[in-house]
Amino acid sequence: MKIGVLSQKGGVGKSTLTRALAVEYSRNDWEVKIADMDLKQSTSTIWNRKRMDNGFTPKIAVEPFSSVKDALKNDSQYDLIIFDGAGQADVQTLEIAKVCDFIILPTGVTADDLEPQVKLAHELKKKGIARQRIGMCLSRVGGSKNELEAAEEYIKATGYTFLGLIAEKTSIGQCSDSGLAANETKYDSINRIADQLIQNIYNHIEQLAKEEVRYG
Ligand SMILES: Nc1ncnc2c1ncn2[C@@H]1O[C@H](COP(=O)(O)OP(=O)(O)OP(=O)(O)O)[C@@H](O)[C@H]1O
Ligand SMILES: [Mg+2]
Repeated sequence: MKIGVLSQKGGVGKSTLTRALAVEYSRNDWEVKIADMDLKQSTSTIWNRKRMDNGFTPKIAVEPFSSVKDALKNDSQYDLIIFDGAGQADVQTLEIAKVCDFIILPTGVTADDLEPQVKLAHELKKKGIARQRIGMCLSRVGGSKNELEAAEEYIKATGYTFLGLIAEKTSIGQCSDSGLAANETKYDSINRIADQLIQNIYNHIEQLAKEEVRYG
């Protein structure tokens, strides 16, 4: 299976979600590889070095790649490849989307973040990616219930699936810095929010697969 975590704008939480997904699928005995497509920053590759240095488990395979073709070499060794997209959407974004079973577009709750991501979703759809294969989630969600509800409504009104959220927490930032993921903090209540998002993603992909079997 292949999942792409992509964005129009930088800094929207792609790498944070990618790592949490990788950790949760690995906990469930999937062989997972993160394809770090952000050669300039290589954030997930650096994160994994810290993870290895600190001896955290489950171990995750992370490799930087400059092309989708290279990332897919030896792909049969893995049950899941997660593409951690580059800082900003570029020509490679569509290439990644085309090879993925499912695409996740994380976004912050403000219009500044929401609008470019919805625009990217529309562009991907126009270029042939089925609407059901695109899901959106909220990153860095603060304490305002109104803001969260407004963002959720905005996404739902676009017709793309709303998958859930990751809360904005100092402990998540600290975890990232030491090689842990957003669902590996010291706080169960924080981990549970990210795990719920991942469960929703898993369920949605399962549902897609079933529908494909039914409708071919
Ligand atoms: N839920 C969160 N709580 C606290 N800090 C967060 C959270 N999500 C992301 N961050 C911080 O925000 C920054 C951007 O997040 P992240 O690297 O996941 O985004 P990105 O979309 O991968 O960025 P880029 O486009 O540069 O690759 C990082 O410093 C990360 O640690
Ligand atoms: Mg990143």
